[in-house]
Amino acid sequence: MIILGIETSCDETGIAIVEDGTNILSNITATSAGIHAKTGGIIPEDAARKQVTSILPVLNLALEESGLLLSNIDAIAVTYGPGLIGSLLVGVETAKTLSMVHHIPLIPVNHLVAHMYANFIDSGVLPEFPAISLTVSGGHTDLVLIKDHGHIEKIGSTRDDAAGEAFDKTARLLGIEYPGGPKLAALADKFIAENKDEKLNMFPRPMINDDNFDWSFSGLKTSVLYKINELVGDNNKLSDYKTISTKENVKNMIPQLAAEVQEAIVDSLVTKTVKAIEKHQPKSMLLGGGVAANQRLRHKLDLRFKIQDLRTKLYLPNPKYCTDNGAVIASAAFFNNKKFAWNKIDVNPELTITSNTET
Ligand code: KG4
Ligand code: ZN
Repeated sequence: MIILGIETSCDETGIAIVEDGTNILSNITATSAGIHAKTGGIIPEDAARKQVTSILPVLNLALEESGLLLSNIDAIAVTYGPGLIGSLLVGVETAKTLSMVHHIPLIPVNHLVAHMYANFIDSGVLPEFPAISLTVSGGHTDLVLIKDHGHIEKIGSTRDDAAGEAFDKTARLLGIEYPGGPKLAALADKFIAENKDEKLNMFPRPMINDDNFDWSFSGLKTSVLYKINELVGDNNKLSDYKTISTKENVKNMIPQLAAEVQEAIVDSLVTKTVKAIEKHQPKSMLLGGGVAANQRLRHKLDLRFKIQDLRTKLYLPNPKYCTDNGAVIASAAFFNNKKFAWNKIDVNPELTITSNTET
């Protein structure tokens, strides 16, 4: 079965053509991150406008690279939520139009569920159920227990900021350009490689010892700001981040602060995830979402699984399928193949990871 997957929930326009859920025939992604770097964050209207201009060229490229025509496509999968409403509408309306004009069935896909399918693509072996999945993206941090495709139970989540949001917001405080997460991670990894003995316990890990699988990341911004103020020696406000990061003594500390931030986030994620694995003893552990591309998170999870000799198989999906893309949308649709008539689908920006596909 050949599925064309469309992803436009935020600032990426992703279209892929995937055969039988795992074999990628093409996967094209355009991003408007460059535009948002100028404003320091996403302006939803700008993201939506860029989706409009990108979607048809990306569709053409995806078809061209696969060597297929729309007449070869068995179903169109599209993200219908969660995400930015303007961006979502571009993908959903494009999918509906293609479905209506070319008589191709439509499969609506939950973006958060789709992130887990990065583990099915390119893996050689399909993960077995039950599985635990940690979805860590710019807007969500969810730990779920999956009994089978489409049978998902939430066991933990963030009480405030998402892990990706914590990366991005602290990066901004450190004067690191949007999208801050990957840039902060690169600085942090370089610092760790050059300072192997550094303890990296400057910032608190709230809730880490609590008897649940939840997180709280919003306090990290304040801790970073306090640390910067301490280094600068006067009382700066959050909005002064650009000035703060130009002060020489803070500038020199930025790589270490980046490493400290990353370690606080990674430690919190790994500790609660391993606790959930010990309790539920699933067959597979899946990772998904943009933050799943973080090398430190992958390394520390892998290490803990080895040290504790956990019997659960840990999947570390290819980083290129962790961030938003059309391939995971097509893959999720193959394994959750519930077709809808084009006029029965609507966007749902507030969708959660456990919402089912009825719109
Ligand atoms: O899943 P995604 O591409 O989009 C959403 O659905 O939100 O995730 C984007 C998030 C951003 O917060 C970005 O900073 C973060 O993932 N991210 C990373 C890395 N790559 C992307 N965070 C830490 N380390 C990375 N290597
Ligand atoms: Zn995402």
